[in-house]
Amino acid sequence: MKTVTTSTLHAAKHAGEPFSCLTAYDASFARSASQAGIEVLLVGDSLGMVLQGHATTLPVTIDDLCYHTRCVARGKEKSLLMADLPFMSNASLDRLLQDAGALMRAGAEMVKIEGEAWLAEGISELTRRGVPVCAHMGLTPQSVHQFGGYKVQGRDAAQAQRMVAEARELVDAGASVILLECVPASLGNTMRDALDVPVIGIGAGPHVDGQILVMHDVLGTSLGRIPRFAKNFLAEGGSIEAAFRAYHEAVKTRRFPTEEHSF
Ligand code: KIV
Ligand code: NA
Repeated sequence: MKTVTTSTLHAAKHAGEPFSCLTAYDASFARSASQAGIEVLLVGDSLGMVLQGHATTLPVTIDDLCYHTRCVARGKEKSLLMADLPFMSNASLDRLLQDAGALMRAGAEMVKIEGEAWLAEGISELTRRGVPVCAHMGLTPQSVHQFGGYKVQGRDAAQAQRMVAEARELVDAGASVILLECVPASLGNTMRDALDVPVIGIGAGPHVDGQILVMHDVLGTSLGRIPRFAKNFLAEGGSIEAAFRAYHEAVKTRRFPTEEHSF
């Protein structure tokens, strides 16, 4: 694998070649995931749940995310390193810029932020300063209390249409990638066609440009119930390295996700 950059992901989209993404939180797993060919590693605030044992991502701090970003940056090879901005990073433009700066200094090559069109200004200020941004839409876990639970988003036609329009605004503002979580497969398909940038999905069906999963779900070791959209690849792989390769290959050959992992 060559070094993965935003251009690599854009080229993959335009060539119609799916790419794989996985969360990573430390140097050893980051190395294995990179060596398996996984294109993008995300230091996700899911670490609040899978590493810290919290019920949500809300308690995760910028210092937690910077620490894990530094760990992953030391271990990973050619994968692109994306890192999450924590809950309330968007409290002000100044805070957003400071937090994104801290993640980039820790080794991130792209930051991910949850929200919709109202984020446009923040995204354009970040990209202007050289920080590539992935906008995370749909089921944004930092808003779990607002949603009243982890529920599929964009089920009705009007909501789906609004989400496409808002995603377009974010791309116009400079977003390099859109990530969609828990939306109907049909909306994933519409988004892939509507947007000129790569669309990564988790529970967004098989038609998006890239897939992402939480590492603990791929290894079948999450604390809670394994979500419908996830799959334990350790069962077929037999070792951690083989599980990462099996996941990567399944995405590349469009054998994952299937109907049973979609909404
Ligand atoms: O924090 C995380 O792991 C994420 C992915 C589930 C997309 O945001
Ligand atoms: Na996250």
